Amino acid sequence: MNAERKVHIKSFGCQMNVYDSHRMADTLAPAGFIETARIEDADLIVLNTCHIREKAQEKVFSELGRMRVLKEAAARAGRRVTVAVAGCVAQAQGEEIARRAPAVDVIVGAQSYHRLPALVARSERNGVVVDTDFPVEDKFDYLEPPAPDAIRARGVSAFVTVQEGCDKFCTFCVVPYTRGAEASRPAAKIIAEVERLAQAGVREITLLGQNVNAYHGRGLDGRSWPLARLLARLAEVPGVERLRYTTSHPRDMEGSLIAAHRDLPSLMPYVHVPVQSGSDRMLERMNRRHTRADYLEMIGYLRAARPDMAFSSDFIVGFPGESEEDFERTLSLIDEVGYAGAFSFKYSARQGTPAADMPDQVDEHVKSERLHRLQAAIDRNAASFNSRCVSRTFDVLFEKEGRYPGQIVGRSPYLQPVQVMAAKAFIGRVAAVTITEVSSNSLFGVLAPSVAEG
Ligand code: 5AD
Ligand code: SF4
Repeated sequence: MNAERKVHIKSFGCQMNVYDSHRMADTLAPAGFIETARIEDADLIVLNTCHIREKAQEKVFSELGRMRVLKEAAARAGRRVTVAVAGCVAQAQGEEIARRAPAVDVIVGAQSYHRLPALVARSERNGVVVDTDFPVEDKFDYLEPPAPDAIRARGVSAFVTVQEGCDKFCTFCVVPYTRGAEASRPAAKIIAEVERLAQAGVREITLLGQNVNAYHGRGLDGRSWPLARLLARLAEVPGVERLRYTTSHPRDMEGSLIAAHRDLPSLMPYVHVPVQSGSDRMLERMNRRHTRADYLEMIGYLRAARPDMAFSSDFIVGFPGESEEDFERTLSLIDEVGYAGAFSFKYSARQGTPAADMPDQVDEHVKSERLHRLQAAIDRNAASFNSRCVSRTFDVLFEKEGRYPGQIVGRSPYLQPVQVMAAKAFIGRVAAVTITEVSSNSLFGVLAPSVAEG
């Protein structure tokens, strides 16, 4: 048995990185590493990085400067600290990190982090190691499962990666290069993972994938299963009360998945389906493979299947060649759909992607001004959605104690935080709540009478 050491994992970027960070912690545990929330106490620091926009990448390099200072301070105190860089920046720029950042000991890509314990041991003997392979083995077959205590510490809502990579090649995006080709995990493995989580008290599962609705893993019958089939099977797992999935591509929102929203009560009526732009000219240049009309048609089908459905999206402003008119098409789409929420980004040119070489790049100040207007439109729609929730009664999954004594906080079907005065015993449970009030980013409610009396 190894002596006990401490690991601090810092996650940047998307939810898949959060999931990967948990799996890294699970896999390091049998090698003697326990997690610490205090970076200063760590013997091993893992930065799980994001490459999607330039800003995300810059954050990593400034963090590496901080690592050097930490490492030197530890060395003066006679302590050795190992620094590992994982995730998409490691994948894309492994060699450059090794050159530019002497504080880094281990560089490990998104598909080979099951080797982390071995790589850390090797670097302690031989210095810097770089492993950014796309290995033939499936990392999921080698990762350690989480211990029940670790699951409980992470709360009642958990992520499970079911699909990785992307074959769509939108012209702005690095994902097909960093996360590789689309691949789906077999259903049996996913079901086993979900059962383990549910047994330890998890009540909500969010299935993750860069193109999650393109899922086509091997089913229990040996045939390829679409996401809808997987969801139907997971809905039967005892303890699983809520299912979600993210991120979806409009083109893969097929009939069976739309029907699942009609047929599966535990599938939440809130989906994140990025559209990126409301202008067909931009969608074409982005290689999105759908038009504005296709997208609106898909939204209509989902609303027909489940009338209380709500939507969120990602938007990019200032894509090369975007005119004021194109941008206004995006603004009008936001009002047409009436999103409950959305993420918006200024286009960031990424080396190696086709859009980075397009000649008609948009001025930075134009991007900033458009982002501002876009965010105002999104906020307006979200506020309107929230205010329409007042007087509605819906299920809330309670997650933790609130800020004030006697208050607990949970999530609505639409992921809004909901604050309720109720007993702590409700934490980890789903209960019906009537919404009484909204503030800028929270809802307030009371337990519905049948629940409060029961
Ligand atoms: N610039 C700006 N935003 C981007 N995204 C992906 N690539 C870029 C880029 N080069 C956004 C898209 C995607 C989200 C995860 O990040 O909106 O849906
Ligand atoms: Fe990137 Fe487009 Fe694939 Fe999404 S669908 S990960 S935006 S290439």
